[in-house]
Amino acid sequence: MKTKWGVLGAGGIARRRTIPEGIARAENCILTAVYDVDAQANADVAAEFGAKACASEEELLASDVDIVYIATPAWLHCDQVLRVAAAGKHVICEKPLGMTVEEGVRMIEACANAGVKLGVGFMMRFHAQHQAALRLVREGRLGKMVFGRAQLSCWYPPIPGAWRQTPEQGGGGSLMDLGGHCIDLLELFLGRAKTVQCVTDRLVHDYASEDTAVALLEFDSGAKGAVDCLFNVPDASSLNRLELYGTRGSILAEGTIGQGEAGTMTARLESDPGGYVAQQNRDTGEGMTINPPPVNMYRAEVEAFAGAVVENTEPPVNGAAGLWSQKVLAACYESAKTGKKVMLD
Ligand SMILES: NC(=O)c1ccc[n+]([C@@H]2O[C@H](COP(=O)([O-])OP(=O)(O)OC[C@H]3O[C@@H](n4cnc5c(N)ncnc54)[C@H](O)[C@@H]3O)[C@@H](O)[C@H]2O)c1
Repeated sequence: MKTKWGVLGAGGIARRRTIPEGIARAENCILTAVYDVDAQANADVAAEFGAKACASEEELLASDVDIVYIATPAWLHCDQVLRVAAAGKHVICEKPLGMTVEEGVRMIEACANAGVKLGVGFMMRFHAQHQAALRLVREGRLGKMVFGRAQLSCWYPPIPGAWRQTPEQGGGGSLMDLGGHCIDLLELFLGRAKTVQCVTDRLVHDYASEDTAVALLEFDSGAKGAVDCLFNVPDASSLNRLELYGTRGSILAEGTIGQGEAGTMTARLESDPGGYVAQQNRDTGEGMTINPPPVNMYRAEVEAFAGAVVENTEPPVNGAAGLWSQKVLAACYESAKTGKKVMLD
């Protein structure tokens, strides 16, 4: 069965990735309506993908769409999710799930009260290499997990009107925008965060949101993690590294964190770490390349959400995941403000 999709905010990531790679190609989805305040983008996306260009959000919500994908700036997410839920449509909201914990709670309550499903756009969980790495971690092939690092950075200079550069519209800067993905991924591999320490700064750009964020996390298992998200280094200088370390090996990746289907990922695994080697000989060979057939993350994300709607099951990345992310991010901002370690519930 094909679920009918409407898109609110069709002109950004929706147009670049989620519609062409996801909704338009998914087995169980059909794009039927779009609405964007940018009339040109609205008309262009509708024409390109054979959907109706609605003249307003109300028109889109009054149409026969089953699912609404929200890909507008973060400050609009909460009210839009509430309105979509009130219209009786299932909703998948781009990350972040609103701007605050309170907004996340309201969105979850509204969807629960309306009996509609709520999903959140942490599509990087679906990356084939991340899933392959997760299997190795779960099989215990890395031994006891001790540390992980996730990095996502880019060059993001001041742009007039850019919502990510104003905390009132983005909820934060590089941490809120990029760090949410990184923390979500580390939690996938290492379990829930229990404490965070974070520093943020505006080191380079003349805008109100942070352009620098570094967070140190402790997970329930005791494993530690580090996340670094910068808006102030050249795109090509950041390899967007993912590093996972356990007592029996590591998985090191470059370029799997991001919007593309593939990066490079190598596992170095030992059946027995043995005793301490004084020479610290690290010539352990090339390691094992992890390169499963690529999976398009946007297609996997929308197919999984549509599947949950059709089968009436819980979406794999649900409102609770979005709310938890908001709690961890809020704890990071509190730590950055107070200079203290913050415990999570
Ligand atoms: N998961 C990912 O890969 C990924 C990547 C980029 C952005 N995002 C998320 O997607 C969301 C949008 O980010 P973006 O980079 O596409 O932003 P953007 O500013 O490039 O695009 C947002 C679009 O929403 C439209 N819009 C603004 N107000 C609107 C309204 N009231 N009603 C309808 N449309 C409206 C704008 O005209 C624009 O076309 C954010 O939450 C962001 O964090 C996710």
